[in-house]
Amino acid sequence: MSDIYKAVEVSAPGVLRVVERPVSEPGVGQVRIRVEACGICHTDAATVTGIYPGLKLPRVPGHEVVGSIEALGTGVSRWKVGQRVGVGFFGGEDGVCEPCRRGDIVNCQNPVVPGVTVDGGYAEVMIAEARGIAAIPDELRSAEAAPLLCAGITTYNALRNAGLRGGDLVAVQGIGGLGHLGIQFARQMGFRSVAIGRGLEKEKLAKDLGAHAYIDTSVEDAGSALQRMGGARAILATAPSGDAMGPLVSGLATRGKLIVIAVPRDPIQLSAFPLVFGGRSVYGSLAGTAIDTEDTLAFSVLENIRPMIETRPLEQAADAYARMMEGKARFRMVLTMTSNR
Ligand SMILES: NC(=O)c1ccc[n+]([C@@H]2O[C@H](COP(=O)([O-])OP(=O)(O)OC[C@H]3O[C@@H](n4cnc5c(N)ncnc54)[C@H](OP(=O)(O)O)[C@@H]3O)[C@@H](O)[C@H]2O)c1
Ligand SMILES: [Zn+2]
Ligand SMILES: [Zn+2]
Repeated sequence: MSDIYKAVEVSAPGVLRVVERPVSEPGVGQVRIRVEACGICHTDAATVTGIYPGLKLPRVPGHEVVGSIEALGTGVSRWKVGQRVGVGFFGGEDGVCEPCRRGDIVNCQNPVVPGVTVDGGYAEVMIAEARGIAAIPDELRSAEAAPLLCAGITTYNALRNAGLRGGDLVAVQGIGGLGHLGIQFARQMGFRSVAIGRGLEKEKLAKDLGAHAYIDTSVEDAGSALQRMGGARAILATAPSGDAMGPLVSGLATRGKLIVIAVPRDPIQLSAFPLVFGGRSVYGSLAGTAIDTEDTLAFSVLENIRPMIETRPLEQAADAYARMMEGKARFRMVLTMTSNR
């Protein structure tokens, strides 16, 4: 095996370039992964543009990573060489901050984040913390498992932790990488599922993914449309637009929840009235831990949920990233490292 591997790094803001790097040994508690596939998440934009707080360049983006373990660092007993694993946005907790000490490790104040604090999966090789990796079931191909590691877990966890009941009206706003999985999860979890997009183009796709209804915000107000249906118990906001998010509160039923999972750069404007009169709430939800990933993958296998993907070779990462940013991906761009299979 070569002692050099190919990676795509952000060398300066906006610049993704192919480089070669020497393969290094995993440290204590780490594993080295031969990457087979890595999804391109919208959050990668924070690395590519260099705006992620504390980010230092060069950095290899990518936090929807699937591959096989090829080396174990000292102290790793749970995993075996050759095992197929994945790593998402949450690459490991520090174990010492207050949220960690309270068992809320997903909100660790000093987490390992692939593609941000350490190099991620736009590469043939990646070093990961063993405590941050998840086993990949045999039923899933690497390229289709990859988007479940961030887009999947984020929507699955937000929905399953929202205190919903079967039959509840649940809307998913934004039909992209996260949203197209959110629609499938909402449907398969037993909710009356509504997709919210802009334009007619995605209506059929959304219904094929399992949405019972589609709201086109270019012709009608999402809030009024949801109220006509009885009001949403929850709305998953996945579209990176604060402007589009605020008005959604008016579509919530009493005690309904707007769950913010997109991270738009513009602020979300809210009216206090529907929050106070009707006990509605707005809160955020961040991805999930490695064990949540395993739950996401198991549920996806159980209910036959798969991302819709477009694959590209690693070397075309810049083009694939641009396609995602232009909103053209249907629905997730996934880089594949053909040399590794
Ligand atoms: N909370 C977390 O843990 C977490 C995890 C992963 C990602 N994220 C964040 O979640 C967001 C979505 O990520 P992604 O990977 O799914 O991005 P994506 O694949 O680019 O999808 C975003 C979708 O939002 C749609 N959209 C944009 N503006 C809209 C509007 N005003 N109304 C309706 N739809 C609109 C776009 O569709 P059209 O342009 O075709 O309308 C696009 O399909 C990003 O902000 C990302 O950083 C958060
Ligand atoms: Zn992500
Ligand atoms: Zn911590």
